[in-house]
Amino acid sequence: MANTSASISRRKFAKLLGVGAACAVASPRITRAGSLFSGAAMRPAADPASVASVVRLSANENPYGPSPMAIKAMTEAFSLSCRYPDDHANVLVDSLAKINRVSPDQILIADGSGEILKVCAAAFTGPTSSAATHPVELVPRSRGGAMPAFVPGRGKMIVADPTFEAILNHARVNMAEVVKVPLTASFGHDLTKMLAAASEGLIYICNPNNPTASITPKNEMRELIAKAPRETIILVDEAYHHYAESADYESVIPLIKDHSNLIVARTFSKIFGMAGLRLGYCVAQPQTIQRLRPHQTWDSVNIMAMVAGIASLNDTDHVATGRRWNSETKKFTLSELERMGFKSIPSEANFIMVDLKKPVRPMLDGLRERGVQVGRLFPALPNHMRVTIGKKPEMEAFLSSFRQVAGVA
Ligand SMILES: Cc1ncc(COP(=O)(O)O)c(C=O)c1O
Repeated sequence: MANTSASISRRKFAKLLGVGAACAVASPRITRAGSLFSGAAMRPAADPASVASVVRLSANENPYGPSPMAIKAMTEAFSLSCRYPDDHANVLVDSLAKINRVSPDQILIADGSGEILKVCAAAFTGPTSSAATHPVELVPRSRGGAMPAFVPGRGKMIVADPTFEAILNHARVNMAEVVKVPLTASFGHDLTKMLAAASEGLIYICNPNNPTASITPKNEMRELIAKAPRETIILVDEAYHHYAESADYESVIPLIKDHSNLIVARTFSKIFGMAGLRLGYCVAQPQTIQRLRPHQTWDSVNIMAMVAGIASLNDTDHVATGRRWNSETKKFTLSELERMGFKSIPSEANFIMVDLKKPVRPMLDGLRERGVQVGRLFPALPNHMRVTIGKKPEMEAFLSSFRQVAGVA
């Protein structure tokens, strides 16, 4: 039986991705991921039976896929792969600058927003005791914003607990102290405590926050940014910005003009459905961007991601539709869970954090045995389970397995 469904999803995957996918289909890992592409066109699948053998609700991906305009742009760009992507980088940076109402020298594009987090940790955290404070000279560079020198990062990394954890490791690799500050009772960042813990270094604020899907209200964000000393960098990760609907939420990009210590990270992995392509960026004042550049790999963004990104920015319908489908399917999932007696943290993202009222491990195991992958265990919230909002048939499959494991009729 397992073999039959595997071969069905292999065939389906090959058909959807075309001949070029045939070699990839041989890998079981890619085959399973490939099943996610069922209905990758911007249309919610109607039939629950079409849900693939593995329902992947574990990585907060966009189940509807990239914009058709991005797919077309990539298809047309294959033959450009022999060129370095300077010109495309300029076009993408100009588009991002226009959309965000800043100048092009206020944008840094990256190999996913994960790279932005890494270069921020490298530039602004490090040991406070022994760090060298003299500038380090760099070799000159002909392309992509040359930097003559940089000053090694120093200072602590202040983060919420729980939050998106990649940046913690980057700071630790940089020998920086990491301070975790628990979220407030309403799952916002405790900005007063975070500010009190900071000196130089970097405060990381994920808004909406992963894994809780909660927001930190706009008035609190404004107050923190106004109060923070200039030597302390505030990095606001707005990966889930497009999904937030609350009137209490706002992007802090407009505040950058008055604050040289503010950086905002964005990604193409979520609403734009480009997680596998790896494209992200940040916005900051020009001098702050210049402090990040030396830590980045030269030409770290590939040309396919760039053409897809440029095309996606022109497809506003794709963003609006993706947001609406996420919102509708989230409401459906939340109401079904509530009917079973399970509440969730109010969600402003494309995932939910369900309170199981008891340790989540048995539920995670039970779901996995039934082919449903959800988020991992988050030690700071051991009774909460993170579930990405997929397409409706995927959520129906999740709910059906959830009922079985929870023993709810
Ligand atoms: C809050 C947050 N920031 C950054 C990332 C990394 O995204 P990217 O794919 O752009 O590297 C993720 C990925 O899930 C995330 O949840």
